[in-house]
Amino acid sequence: MTCWLCVLSLPLLLLPAAPPPAGGCPARCECTAQTRAVACTRRRLTAVPDGIPAETRLLELSRNRIRCLNPGDLAALPALEELDLSENAIAHVEPGAFANLPRLRVLRLRGNQLKLIPPGVFTRLDNLTLLDLSENKLVILLDYTFQDLHSLRRLEVGDNDLVFISRRAFAGLLALEELTLERCNLTSLGHLRGLGALRLRHLAIAALEDQNFRRLPGLLHLEIDNWPLLEDVAAGSLRGLNLTSLSVTHTNITAVPAAALRHHAHLTCLNLSHNPIITVPRGSFRDLVRLRELHLAGALLAVVEPQAFLGLRQIRLLNLSNNLLSTLEESTFHSVNTLETLRVDGNPLACDCRLLWIVQRSKTLNLDGRLPACATPAEVRGDALRNLPDSVLFEYFVCRKPKIRERRLQRVAATAGEDVRFLCRAGGRAGAHRGLGDPPAPAGDGPPARGRASVLPGGTLEIQDARPQDSGTYTCVASNAGGNDTYFAMLTVRPEPAANRTLGEAHNETLAALRAPLDLTTILVSTAMGCITFLGVVLFCFVLLFVWSRGRGQHKNNFSVEYSFRKVDGPAAAAGQGGARKFNMKMI
Ligand SMILES: *[C@@H]1O[C@H](CO)[C@@H](O)[C@H](O)[C@H]1NC(C)=O
Ligand SMILES: *[C@@H]1O[C@H](CO)[C@@H](O)[C@H](O)[C@H]1NC(C)=O
Ligand SMILES: *[C@@H]1O[C@H](CO)[C@@H](O)[C@H](O)[C@H]1NC(C)=O
Ligand SMILES: *[C@@H]1O[C@H](CO)[C@@H](O)[C@H](O)[C@H]1NC(C)=O
Ligand SMILES: *[C@@H]1O[C@H](CO)[C@@H](O)[C@H](O)[C@H]1NC(C)=O
Ligand SMILES: *[C@@H]1O[C@H](CO)[C@@H](O)[C@H](O)[C@H]1NC(C)=O
Ligand SMILES: *[C@@H]1O[C@H](CO)[C@@H](O)[C@H](O)[C@H]1NC(C)=O
Ligand SMILES: *[C@@H]1O[C@H](CO)[C@@H](O)[C@H](O)[C@H]1NC(C)=O
Ligand SMILES: *[C@@H]1O[C@H](CO)[C@@H](O)[C@H](O)[C@H]1NC(C)=O
Repeated sequence: MTCWLCVLSLPLLLLPAAPPPAGGCPARCECTAQTRAVACTRRRLTAVPDGIPAETRLLELSRNRIRCLNPGDLAALPALEELDLSENAIAHVEPGAFANLPRLRVLRLRGNQLKLIPPGVFTRLDNLTLLDLSENKLVILLDYTFQDLHSLRRLEVGDNDLVFISRRAFAGLLALEELTLERCNLTSLGHLRGLGALRLRHLAIAALEDQNFRRLPGLLHLEIDNWPLLEDVAAGSLRGLNLTSLSVTHTNITAVPAAALRHHAHLTCLNLSHNPIITVPRGSFRDLVRLRELHLAGALLAVVEPQAFLGLRQIRLLNLSNNLLSTLEESTFHSVNTLETLRVDGNPLACDCRLLWIVQRSKTLNLDGRLPACATPAEVRGDALRNLPDSVLFEYFVCRKPKIRERRLQRVAATAGEDVRFLCRAGGRAGAHRGLGDPPAPAGDGPPARGRASVLPGGTLEIQDARPQDSGTYTCVASNAGGNDTYFAMLTVRPEPAANRTLGEAHNETLAALRAPLDLTTILVSTAMGCITFLGVVLFCFVLLFVWSRGRGQHKNNFSVEYSFRKVDGPAAAAGQGGARKFNMKMI
């Protein structure tokens, strides 16, 4: 065994001697004369080898077992420009270890065991432009650690165990352009006049406070990633900055930080992906007139409100993949003409005329190779929006406003105690709607229909035992993806004759009114399409929501009917029962 080893290693030992001594080459290393590079990666070295040629420009010592760097280890290498000591076991660097490397531009110390950098380690490295200290065990950065590094442009201190960054730790870094900090306790960064890019990852900070970054006047790129505790980007936190790209990802913010984004008129790329954001309200980005890319992928987006992208006059790329959107309307955009790339795949899309604009632009719009698919209607579930054949488009993407039929003015006069009915029948197309469905059933576990009003199948509103206070105007709104139709009816309820009033308790109005109130004084109806607010006189509203309407006469129409009542006639009522009752009914 030993013998074999001897025989085998003999030629190996001879090899380094083989090239003529153009300065020589250390044992176990490879030297390339033209580039003046010496490579000793993965050679189980426990120290910097002897015999490195003095003219070496590039020295590779990564993936060895070096534990310590002393002054003199790297002496007499006046031409060295790049030094790679990554992935060793260096726990200690003596001051002066790099003192004789005047031309050093790149120093990589990534993946070592450094806990502390004593003052004086990086002195006289005037030409250093890149210093990588990531993946060490640094807990603290002392004042003036980097003070001689006047030429340093990129500093990586990511993935350390930093708990404290001293106030003047970054003093002297006049040329610093990029800084990455990870898993640390952010303190004041000090004045980094030239800093253009700042990446902050895995920080345990719950809120970005006012003017955190005010001493970074040159910052263009700010990246905040993986802060699970971050719930708020305060309005003033980005003040003083003039960013061109901002990324806030994998945090716990639930709203678009619209206020913090105000006045960032030079922002061109915004990445808010992977945050639990549910809604994009109207005008959220309205000052971002130069924004070209907006990423909001992998969030919890269910609603992008009309005009949500108001002001985005130059938007080229919109990435909304992997959300909970059922639609994305053209009215959301300032103008869709600038849009080149759109990602809406991974959303439960309702394929109806609201998405027609995407189909119409499918020749020019780049979908990044991910075709959005329909979740509804059932007939095309799973089909790619872009691949729907013309026949299907013709059938499903024809958007007709619903039309309320029998529009003769309904003025109903009744006497107290009578039952009253209003008709409101609608069709996506005249004559198309004929079927009736199940009677409305209360949704959820709330009480059964309180009061005396109910909606009968077919859209008829019935009020039993009418009271004078029921008098007023009633509105019926029928809406679908194509629009809506509204219709009013008027009710006047006369009081009962005085003669019968005085007769006993059966007609005690106050009592009866308290027992079975008609809680329809003012009604708000919210539908999938938005909210309608009512004038004072409007007392009741019911909505026919045509989720899907197939145009042909011989086809059945699917209507989903939603009624929603909310009592808002007094603070007590509002506070008491939480107000709303909701019924859903499907008519086929
Ligand atoms: C930095 O490098 C340049 C050449 O790249 C050299 O002229 C200059 O002397 C170096 N600076 C120092 C302090 O050695
Ligand atoms: C951050 O620093 C503060 C005070 O300097 C300290 O109370 C807190 O525990 C630190 N947090 C972490 C995650 O180190
Ligand atoms: C994120 O926010 C939610 C609700 O605001 C909270 O319940 C959750 O604990 C937060 N997550 C983290 C990691 O802080
Ligand atoms: C913001 O930066 C842009 C270039 O990105 C520059 O043209 C503009 O003048 C800057 N605005 C301010 C207020 O500094
Ligand atoms: C946006 O952020 C996510 C998460 O950090 C990242 O995966 C994605 O590449 C970013 N997109 C762009 C365009 O920077
Ligand atoms: C959109 O976002 C997803 C998820 O972050 C990402 O994988 C994809 O590359 C993005 N696409 C574009 C065009 O930015
Ligand atoms: C009805 O249409 C009008 C104008 O077209 C619109 O403003 C309103 O939001 C629509 N209402 C519903 C419930 O769709
Ligand atoms: C008064 O009430 C009685 C029964 O309670 C009824 O028969 C009669 O018609 C009522 N009178 C009027 C004017 O409504
Ligand atoms: C009507 O009801 C009120 C409230 O319960 C009661 O105070 C009043 O005595 C009743 N009037 C008659 C005539 O029964």
